[in-house]
Amino acid sequence: MSVLPTYQVLDGKRCGDALRADIAKGALEVRSKRGRAPHLAAVLVGSDGASRTYVEAKVKACEEVGFRSSLIVLPETITEDDLLHRVKQLNKDKELDGFIVQLPLPDHIDADKVTLAIAPEKDVDGFHPENIGRMVLGLPGFLPATPSGIVELLRHYHVETAGKHCVVIGRSHIVGTPMSILMSRNAYPGNCTVTLAHSRTMDLPALTREADILIAALGKPEFVTGAMVREGAVVVDVGIHRIADASRKSGFRLVGDVKFDEVAPKCSWIAPVPGGVGPMTITSLLLNTLKACTH
Ligand code: GUN
Repeated sequence: MSVLPTYQVLDGKRCGDALRADIAKGALEVRSKRGRAPHLAAVLVGSDGASRTYVEAKVKACEEVGFRSSLIVLPETITEDDLLHRVKQLNKDKELDGFIVQLPLPDHIDADKVTLAIAPEKDVDGFHPENIGRMVLGLPGFLPATPSGIVELLRHYHVETAGKHCVVIGRSHIVGTPMSILMSRNAYPGNCTVTLAHSRTMDLPALTREADILIAALGKPEFVTGAMVREGAVVVDVGIHRIADASRKSGFRLVGDVKFDEVAPKCSWIAPVPGGVGPMTITSLLLNTLKACTH
C-alpha cells in the first residue's frame, strides 16, 4: 500500500513558467510600441562560481522571454571608484531599462555605496533605499526579487494568509527584512501577524512551532527540522546550498534551510529546494524589468 503525501508543493517552476508566458507577451507589446525589447544588464565583479551561475541564469531567462540582456563582467581588482563610474554610465544609458550589480562584491568595495549609486528607476533588484521606502509605504516601486517571488508563489496557489502567524527566520536586507514587511502589509498575500526571528532569538523551536507560515531564510543547510514545525504549516524554504554527494554525477546535491524529508510530511504546503523559491526570484526580476519599460 502506498501512502499519499499529505502536503502540496508550492511549485516555483510551474508558477514561474505561467508568469513568464505573460511576461513574454508583455515584451512583445513593448517591442511593438517602442521598437526595442526590454533590456536588462547584469554586472558581475570577479569570478565567484556561484555568482556567475546565478547571473548566467538571469541572462538566459531574459532571452527566453524575448528581452535583450547584457552581461558585464568586471575584474575582481576593479576599484570602487571605477565601479561607481560604470554604474553612473549605466544609469544614463537610454538603451537600458534596468540593471543589477550581483552581490556579494569583493571586500574592498562598499556594496552600500554601489547600491545607493544605482538610479532608483533602473534598480530592478529593488535594493535602493528609495525602493525599500516605497515598499514600506505601499507606494509603487520595485520590490526585491526573492520576497516578491514568494508573495507571487503564495498568490498563485491561493494560500490563505490573513490573520495567520508568519514567522520569518533571518533578517537580511535582501530577504528576511523585506519579507516581514510584505507579509504584514494590508493586502493579499499579507495581513499576517509577523515575527522576525534571527540568530539572537531565544527558544527558536518554540517560536517556529507557533508559525502558521514559516519562511526559512537564514542560510544554514537543513536547519529547520521536523520538530520545529507544527502540523499543517505552510513552509517556504529560501536557502540554497551545495552539499558534497559522491553518489551524484555532479558531485553535489542542492539542499535548502529546511530538512525536507522531516518537515514536508507535517506541512499543508511546502516550497522545496530546488524548484520552489529559486525560479520565482528570477521571474520577479523579469517582472521588474518589464515594469521599468512601462513607467
Ligand atoms: N546575490 C544574491 N541574491 C541576489 C540578488 O537577488 N540580486 C543581486 N544583485 N545579488 C544577489
